[in-house]
Amino acid sequence: MQHKDVIIIGAGAAGLFCAATAGQRGKEVLVLDHAKKVGRKILMSGGGRCNFTNMYTSHENFICNNPHFVKSALSQYTQWDFIDLVNRHNIAYHEKTLGQLFCDDSAKQIVKLLMDECAAVSAQVKTNCEILTVTKSSTGYHLKTSQGEYTCTSLVIATGGLSMPKLGATPFGYQIAEQFGIPVTPTRAALVPFTLHEHDKVLLAELSGVSVQASAECNNTIFNEGILFTHRGMSGPAVLQISSYWQAGQRVAINLLPQHDMLAYLHQAQTEQPNTLLSTVLSEFYAKRMVQTLLTYFKIENKPLKQYQGKQLDNVAQQFHAWDLQPNGTEGYRTAEVTLGGADTDYFSSKTMEAKAHPGLFFIGEVLDVTGWLGGYNFQWAWSSGYVAGMSV
Ligand code: FDA
Repeated sequence: MQHKDVIIIGAGAAGLFCAATAGQRGKEVLVLDHAKKVGRKILMSGGGRCNFTNMYTSHENFICNNPHFVKSALSQYTQWDFIDLVNRHNIAYHEKTLGQLFCDDSAKQIVKLLMDECAAVSAQVKTNCEILTVTKSSTGYHLKTSQGEYTCTSLVIATGGLSMPKLGATPFGYQIAEQFGIPVTPTRAALVPFTLHEHDKVLLAELSGVSVQASAECNNTIFNEGILFTHRGMSGPAVLQISSYWQAGQRVAINLLPQHDMLAYLHQAQTEQPNTLLSTVLSEFYAKRMVQTLLTYFKIENKPLKQYQGKQLDNVAQQFHAWDLQPNGTEGYRTAEVTLGGADTDYFSSKTMEAKAHPGLFFIGEVLDVTGWLGGYNFQWAWSSGYVAGMSV
């Protein structure tokens, strides 16, 4: 039986960052992970370039039952602190859009940064290690694993959410929460593409691969970032973002022309070029294939503009500005970037991530009921929550 000051379960973004932080304080740290490789989600992230933070991170970019919970950790370790660290490791990066910072080269550099930081403080990382049982002991916590038994003074749960089981995701963290009497708020896939009802899917199949600047709105929340039609349904940043706010059965309002007033444009075109077909005018905004498909889908007759009477052009504009879409569902955890819900934050200190009723037990990263928007916020939460726990274990 070996004793460590700190054992961290989960060698992902939050766990490795917590290990490095605790190691810098002189703690003897062991990180255990059941997967063969550490940081698999980091390697897959940002299309292989890892969107490692967002310059505009604020508490408003997170979904949590207690919207104040994230504030302390985000202010103790900010996006600028992580950017400094990336600079110190000479990793080149760029802003893609909306404050999202990506590696110029590869997400592997972020995993290397984390492993180098752990190595610098001799934090040990063991992979291929199944955790069999976790129990409380007189001096802290006792773990039985496939690689032996350990005790530790502080135990950190950093096993993430349920998204992408292929990358090693398991409900382990939620089971430990329940074992210690910590409720888990309902979980569901988030930052995930929508699937469509058969009728919509068939009609829109033609658009697979087409993307367009658009906004998506549901439950008083709106994202204006673009959508992508896929062979299963709809994706793209605006759809992924709104999926985190959408509940099964609800409708989503999609504005396919958020930057323009289509009605004013159509009225002007009707006066200036009355013999022009509606499809020709709409081709100013969209690819031809998209115009044809959407006119069929919205059941709009294509004719010269002068033939539209009364409110007919209003109807055209309304369809494009406020497409009332009812998704069939989502692609689920198989492709979701994150999991909504998790270990209930009311049971943890927002300053340290320590369980209020269990001294020495910490939960960090995505396993908590904290979900960031698309755009680097989820990794920033992993760094910030990992840091504050690392400073407190
Ligand atoms: P994370 O999932 O990173 O790590 C959990 C670790 O626990 C894993 O190593 C896992 O193997 C281990 N584990 C699980 N169960 C275990 C068990 N039973 N026993 C032992 N170990 C166990 N975010 C962002 O900000 N920018 C981005 O660009 C992206 N891109 C992106 C792409 C894709 C494809 C996905 C799936 C996700 C993203 N994300 C993202 C989200 C981001 O990856 C995610 O929020 C963080 O990785 C969460 O960090 P954690 O450390 O909490 O969990």
